[in-house]
Amino acid sequence: MSVIIYNSEVVGVKIIVCNDYNEISKTAADIVAGILKSKPKAVLGLATGSTPVGMYNELAEKNQNKEIDFKDVVTFNLDEYYPISSDNPQSYRYFMNKHLFNKININMENTHILNGMCKDTDIECYNFEKMIEKQGGIDLQILGIGQNGHIGFNEPDVTLNSRTHLTDLTENTIEANSRFFENVSEVPRQALTMGIATILSAKKIILLASGRNKCKAVKELMNSKISTDNPASMLKVHPDVTLICDKEAYSNNRIGVDIGGTEIKFGVLDDSDKLIYKTDIPTNTDSEDELINSIVKKCKEIIDCYYISGIGVGTPGIIKNGLVTAANIPFSNTDLGGKLEELLNLPVKTSNDANCAALAESKCGSGKNVNSMVMISLGTGIGGGLIIDNKIYEGCGKAGEIGHFVIDYDGKKCSCGTKGCWEQYASVSALLKNAEFAAKNNPDSYLAQLYMKKNKLNGIQFFDALKNNCSIAKEVFEDYLGYLSTGIESLINIFDPEMIVLAGGITNAGDDLLMPLIDRISAEIPIEISALKGDAGIVGAALLI
Ligand code: PGA
Repeated sequence: MSVIIYNSEVVGVKIIVCNDYNEISKTAADIVAGILKSKPKAVLGLATGSTPVGMYNELAEKNQNKEIDFKDVVTFNLDEYYPISSDNPQSYRYFMNKHLFNKININMENTHILNGMCKDTDIECYNFEKMIEKQGGIDLQILGIGQNGHIGFNEPDVTLNSRTHLTDLTENTIEANSRFFENVSEVPRQALTMGIATILSAKKIILLASGRNKCKAVKELMNSKISTDNPASMLKVHPDVTLICDKEAYSNNRIGVDIGGTEIKFGVLDDSDKLIYKTDIPTNTDSEDELINSIVKKCKEIIDCYYISGIGVGTPGIIKNGLVTAANIPFSNTDLGGKLEELLNLPVKTSNDANCAALAESKCGSGKNVNSMVMISLGTGIGGGLIIDNKIYEGCGKAGEIGHFVIDYDGKKCSCGTKGCWEQYASVSALLKNAEFAAKNNPDSYLAQLYMKKNKLNGIQFFDALKNNCSIAKEVFEDYLGYLSTGIESLINIFDPEMIVLAGGITNAGDDLLMPLIDRISAEIPIEISALKGDAGIVGAALLI
């Protein structure tokens, strides 16, 4: 059973999601049949490509069963290669005769396909438009969609020619269509095509999309603004468009990958941004190739179980011009996105892991009702993610490295080579280091008793000491809160965000951390703890797609 969706964001577009290609073909054929029954002299706009073939078979069967009659039907085809002769098996005239016209009782004189051998393309295109006009316009236009969003041969471009015209094919289309030719060099480089205005003049439009390789185009059609970069997006201004697609083309399941120093987390986010699957593997840091191969292997397992439209990856380190360089992971100017895209044959986007977590909080977590927020991730160091106008702010590639703003120019040495970075004072490592030092110097304290169990302290023990009114722990905590709040105040002064979100294991302390911190911050701004906790990285990575 197909599902019908009315997407209020997409004016006029009704979406029918079918289970498979057969159902698409039957559904589309039923719509065409309905029109022919109510208007025997209907004018149809037809499309070629692999997608409408099933619908043509259904229509031929309906015609043979006398359910529909093509005797008085007039057709205009969307496009034709140029130059190409009509007896070339790759010409669209040949295609239409083979897949439809030769199987139905249509009058061949009523079938109009642009002449791929015409001498003057301007005259050919002009006459074609005039003939459509003479027939009273197209009642129903059938369309496929290219992987790059083209309809007919209206390719993404800065300007789109609105009426029937000669056009150059893009590399993407030449590559996609080369499957029908002996080799890519045989694909014509030009074509004659109805323009966007010709298509939009049709009274009704059906857009067919099948298979995972159309998912990106379908998603962009629904989510993107109306733009010449995505010719199909123009259909949104038409009042009667029906997109008939299968689950593979419609599914917006995305994989989010969160690469950490010890484990790589994977998650699947569904159409409504709900996390529907989670798993993890240890991080293989032996070599770049082994690390990438381990990610590819796990993604392939997931792809076998879910229809996936793309993959987002959050990685530690700096990403500049798409190249990743990280300290504890074997990435050095690594084209992580490009490599994964090649190996997995799906769109891949990458961003810094802290940025991903911030994006997740801003879209689905604590910050979902605000447009700007700063996420502060407290751990071994301090990571950060800046969300401005609901988008990650990356600067030239490494914005958000808030752990490295200097609060003491001659202060403690930092791993980055500078002195006095904030994370040397306000990270969890800094807190525990100070707590251990204080415990050693105060052997009678409650904190020291906890410390002596393993000659080290963890966050749970530290907050336990605070709960037990350990005055030494309180002193350390006061000092820590001083540094943490000073840094947060500075961030507020710089970015003036609507919200601060705190993340990292220490936030499990909840109000024991939050309340005394809020007391120290003078600005009236909500400070909240990450709602998505450990899932933020994978959710945010998937949201990149
Ligand atoms: P396809 O082509 O049906 O062969 O996928 C559609 C298009 O490129 O418009």
